[in-house]
Amino acid sequence: MTAPNIPSAQHAPSGVPEQPHHAAPPNVPTKEWFDTKGLDYETSYGHNAGLLKAVDKFAARLRPGCRVLDLGCGTGRPVAHTLAARGFQVHGVDFSETMIGLSRAAVPNGVFECAHLLDWTPAQGQRFGGIVATSSFYELSREQMETLVSRWRDWLEPGGLALLMMVAAEDVPSTKTEMYDSDGRFARGIPFRFMGEDCFLYLFTRAGWRALLEERGGLVVREQWVEAFVPPREADCDGETNSFFIAERAKAMEGGLA
Ligand SMILES: C[S@@+](CC[C@H](N)C(=O)[O-])C[C@H]1O[C@@H](n2cnc3c(N)ncnc32)[C@H](O)[C@@H]1O
Repeated sequence: MTAPNIPSAQHAPSGVPEQPHHAAPPNVPTKEWFDTKGLDYETSYGHNAGLLKAVDKFAARLRPGCRVLDLGCGTGRPVAHTLAARGFQVHGVDFSETMIGLSRAAVPNGVFECAHLLDWTPAQGQRFGGIVATSSFYELSREQMETLVSRWRDWLEPGGLALLMMVAAEDVPSTKTEMYDSDGRFARGIPFRFMGEDCFLYLFTRAGWRALLEERGGLVVREQWVEAFVPPREADCDGETNSFFIAERAKAMEGGLA
């Protein structure tokens, strides 16, 4: 896989000044790569029973009918589609035009925007009852993930919830000691087989994902669990152990009401 090449103009929302190019870590699945996958991704990953269960749990905790932001929404199935079917107003963001097109077809009453996650910002005053990010930080460095999640406290309404599904560094068999940052919370350049390609993953540990939500996002983790997922053999993907977190933006924050 070649180093990513993301033309920033493609991701800058209209009317917003262009942001500088967001340099991604080397050898990650790129926007161009996701553009070529489209429905093949859904065929390989759309039936992840652990993810379906997590969306159910999350939906049951959300304020009924609230607006939910799906960051890196992919094809829209299963996450956005399931949430829309339960009466939530889904707002998806993804930098792949192919994925956004599939999401719009899967969820006709949703709002979907094609943007890099670091370029996207909500409309002025807009807040969400929920934020979902499931396996969608592939093209972000540690520092970029920290920046993104630090914005969530402003994007979530008080009492709003975030659902995060990610792989933890320690759960990938190819993670080596020397790949970890000195704080032991993040590993860089983990070899991984993903839809017929050899790529690298950049992942927090389970404790690191939790700290990301709590320390950067200002959220309180309410539930945390782990589920294994084995993609179909023909997908040519490594198996995954998915870590799930449901975190809440507290209603009252230090120093007064949020
Ligand atoms: C592995 S797929 C997961 C899709 C969906 N969240 C799901 O669980 O089915 C990752 C998605 O995130 C998108 N993505 C990855 N990095 C992104 C970024 N920096 N900005 C916007 N979208 C991104 C990709 O285009 C892709 O559609």
